[in-house]
Amino acid sequence: MLHAEWICIVDFGSQYTQLIARRIREIGVYCEIHPFNKALNVIEEKPPRGIILSGSPSSVYDEEAPIIEERVFELGIPVLGICYGLQLFAHHYNGAVDPAAKREYGKAMLNVSPQEALFEGIPEHSQVWMSHGDALSKLPESFQVIGTTENAPICAVRHESRPQFGVQFHPEVVHSEYGTAILKNFAYNICDCKGGWNPHSFIELAIEEIRNTVGSGHVICGLSGGVDSSVAAILLHKAIGDRLHCIHVDNGLMRKGESQEVVDTFRKNFKIPVDLVDAEDVFLTKLAGVTDPEKKRKIIGATFIEEFEREAKKFNQAEFLAQGTLYPDVIESVSFKGPSVTIKSHHNVGGLPEKMNLKLVEPFRELFKDEVRRVGLELGLPEAFIKRHPFPGPGLAIRIPGAVSKEKLELLREVDVIYLEELSKAQLYDSIWQAFAVLLPVQSVGVMGDARTYEYVAAVRAVTSLDGMTADWARIPPEVLERISNRIINEVRGVNRVVYDISSKPPATIEWE
Ligand code: XMP
Repeated sequence: MLHAEWICIVDFGSQYTQLIARRIREIGVYCEIHPFNKALNVIEEKPPRGIILSGSPSSVYDEEAPIIEERVFELGIPVLGICYGLQLFAHHYNGAVDPAAKREYGKAMLNVSPQEALFEGIPEHSQVWMSHGDALSKLPESFQVIGTTENAPICAVRHESRPQFGVQFHPEVVHSEYGTAILKNFAYNICDCKGGWNPHSFIELAIEEIRNTVGSGHVICGLSGGVDSSVAAILLHKAIGDRLHCIHVDNGLMRKGESQEVVDTFRKNFKIPVDLVDAEDVFLTKLAGVTDPEKKRKIIGATFIEEFEREAKKFNQAEFLAQGTLYPDVIESVSFKGPSVTIKSHHNVGGLPEKMNLKLVEPFRELFKDEVRRVGLELGLPEAFIKRHPFPGPGLAIRIPGAVSKEKLELLREVDVIYLEELSKAQLYDSIWQAFAVLLPVQSVGVMGDARTYEYVAAVRAVTSLDGMTADWARIPPEVLERISNRIINEVRGVNRVVYDISSKPPATIEWE
């Protein structure tokens, strides 16, 4: 745990649990998510300033309902129950939940008593976001109603003598107008948090922790060019200087000029030496003629490991490997969906640490993506670098359905650079989550001047998303699409048709392979 002051978010499986954590951190308080059946151990080991009980798709009366041991209400630590969390109060304090209550999804008008600590500074009437089936039908013993809506006469409650609160609505959702203010009141007024969780304080703590972990050892860092590994490298360099060894493997599947740009940025701007491995031929030879998407991914993953491992031998004094693992990858969330199937085998550097007998250094294990971006800015990475769209490990290979070749990669690079340039010119780049071009394994007939052409089709895709799990196609204005199409067809020899991908995820995925 990085910070002495923290709030524990107990996860009962709500789709909003991570959102609660993001909101709490945004107001400057460090928090962690723990599953309902393990949270108490953590809480008792290192008591948090406050506890938030999340929502859940279950009903408290379900046989398999996730229930936390009732001790949680007897610890003297402030508790805020949200939605299902509120219903757990009813369970513990002899209230009643009506499973047949009118379901309520969407906006509602909340009426509160502004003198309540939880609602300090909040208007008497404000909009909140509801999303529940069950509702409280009998007030838990020793509780008072402090907020109502038209459909929920017991919408917000407070214990008469203990610092325990419950709300039926979701303060973490942006549609709850004063949601952040309510969470702030809980954290600062009720839990007595002092705040101070920000990129700057994180950097100081992380540097100290890296130094403690690494001691006088050496660390290897695989620099992909993505935000996470780049920020990790700069942070590590600040902590241990030239005992950090960065390796960038150019797999020949990067965008135009990208490998060189990554290496230059580090060498020139940050004075961090980077070992550049030119492995284009190795990758392209192994990929030649391979059409199956999963096979392509596996070849790229395995070849990366081979190349990286060979290069890393130069630094045989290193016993650590740095990785930009993020908090969402390590949260042990409660899932009611059962074991998930592998849709695509995402790879980064999976398999490396065990194979090379290296210990891991993961400075961002506790951070969300937007926090890593803020840390990167604080460390001096240019804003344009930080705001770059995500780019998959297997690179352009999964944007060329079918077999990959050097010629096709060259074509796609030209298409891609024009596309992204036009999106930036139209000031659309930053509002889009991810945009890229795909070179289809299809040729179509066209006419240029008086001549017939028979050339490739390029698909352009742009999606809006919060986390890549679901996505919608971006509504790019037709005149921008027109410019994109004109420029690609006029400037890239070998492409005579451009199509725009209007599929959402699900059922499509973001990448084509
Ligand atoms: P999909 O296509 O699964 O993509 O909807 C979701 C997000 O993940 C990225 N992606 C990958 N990232 N290795 C990665 O590091 C991979 O193999 C990989 N496949 C997809 C994709 O670009 C999108 O941001």
